[in-house]
Amino acid sequence: MDHSKGVNFAVAGVSVLPKAQRDKFGSHLKYSQSSLDVQLQWFVNFSREAFPNESARKANFESALFVLGGGGNDYGGFKNTPQERMTLIPYVIAALKQGMELVP
Ligand SMILES: *[C@@H]1O[C@H](CO)[C@@H](O)[C@H](O)[C@H]1NC(C)=O
Repeated sequence: MDHSKGVNFAVAGVSVLPKAQRDKFGSHLKYSQSSLDVQLQWFVNFSREAFPNESARKANFESALFVLGGGGNDYGGFKNTPQERMTLIPYVIAALKQGMELVP
């Protein structure tokens, strides 16, 4: 497979926070079983399979553009107030930051 034009791990309706964490906060988001950590694991698995040699992987990634984003769906499944939803922001930001640190 030719990956020279890019690879996309997007999932419709996905959240940044893992489902277990969303459940803990009382999210009623039904449509997303997946989350950013799963997408990042797909990315890590893909990158190791596509470039088993670490130096070849690093050389390829040096000229690659990585786009990582999300968070809008993390707030959609809550029946509580906007103020209560705001308490989630630090957790969503922390998960995004952790994800960015994973990208080589
Ligand atoms: C990534 O690869 C590991 C090892 O093969 C596997 O156990 C895991 O399920 C994979 N993760 C995903 C999200 O596909």
